[in-house]
Amino acid sequence: MTSTSFIKIMSCVLIFLVMSCKGEKEEYHNLIDKIEAKSIEYKRNSIQEQNLFEPDALVLIDENNIQFHIQSRKEKIQSFKCSECHTKPVSQLQTEGLGKKAHWDITLKHADKKTMSCLSCHINNDMDNLQSITGESIDLNYSYQLCNQCHNNEVKDWVGGAHGKNLSGWQGSRISKLCTECHDPHDPSIKKRWPSRYNSIMVSERK
Ligand code: HEC
Ligand code: HEC
Ligand code: HEC
Ligand code: HEC
Repeated sequence: MTSTSFIKIMSCVLIFLVMSCKGEKEEYHNLIDKIEAKSIEYKRNSIQEQNLFEPDALVLIDENNIQFHIQSRKEKIQSFKCSECHTKPVSQLQTEGLGKKAHWDITLKHADKKTMSCLSCHINNDMDNLQSITGESIDLNYSYQLCNQCHNNEVKDWVGGAHGKNLSGWQGSRISKLCTECHDPHDPSIKKRWPSRYNSIMVSERK
């Protein structure tokens, strides 16, 4: 080994030592220390951390000691508030009608006709709320309570997080989809559909 290459090697080692010393400026005893030092204070179980969701638009569900949220539903219901038109009983509205059906787009395909009519779930003198079989008022944001009368198992599964869909991440409060975000209460079966296809014609037209 020549003396010049020896000097070269030694100077490389020296530079390496100096650099590694500089790297060790922030010294931690172990990985846990380092994680703790570098972590940001994080508030658990606050809704705000789910910044995809407006905290004001979340509704707390509290069933069987399980708490989670849904997104407020009323604002998303097109013909809400119902009381803008439903100032009188339906029978009176019908006779005053213009011969056109107000809710022509709604056909009931849920259970059989003897079990279910519009007024099994809606109240004539308080259309802005739903009603239970026993005549109790149910807020539209809590419509799962309506479903619960006949689909208790699905609601139990939903409360436990096993039916439906979780919209939030794994940390913090759970935010779930409400039944009516997936099932149309007037026609609740999930429709069969074809898988969506890659549209090669549209792609070639864009070129
Ligand atoms: C733009 C006016 C308007 C709004 C808004 C409206 N309705 Fe109606 N609805 C009517 C009229 C008019 C009738 C009666 C005539 C008819 O059946 O076509 C009626 C009838 C009904 C009936 C009885 C239907 C039947 O065949 O027996 C139900 C139930 C009903 N409405 C529920 C609702 C609910 C629930 C909302 C709100 C989510 C709502 N409506 C909002 C105008 C309205
Ligand atoms: C099984 C219970 C049930 C029955 C029966 C039922 N509804 Fe509803 N209806 C609901 C629920 C729950 C909602 C709220 C849906 C949501 O959260 O989007 C609703 C919503 C509506 C709305 C508002 C829809 C919109 O998007 O604007 C109208 C109008 C309405 N119902 C009319 C009727 C009429 C008319 C009938 C009879 C033909 C009827 N409903 C029968 C449960 C029911
Ligand atoms: C008064 C009782 C009653 C209420 C309230 C009720 N259902 Fe139903 N539902 C039935 C009956 C009866 C059937 C038909 C029997 C069956 O297929 O299990 C049914 C069927 C269904 C089905 C299966 C449809 C299919 O063919 O696959 C779904 C999904 C459903 N309901 C969802 C709901 C939702 C969501 C609500 C609340 C908005 C609700 N139901 C409220 C009685 C009810
Ligand atoms: C994220 C969407 C989603 C939500 C939210 C949801 N469901 Fe379902 N539900 C489904 C799907 C998908 C099926 C399976 C449909 C099928 O097999 O054809 C189903 C099936 C059902 C059935 C039929 C079960 C059977 O054995 O045939 C009922 C009843 C039902 N759901 C009620 C509810 C009720 C009540 C809620 C609210 C507490 C709810 N679902 C919330 C997607 C949803």
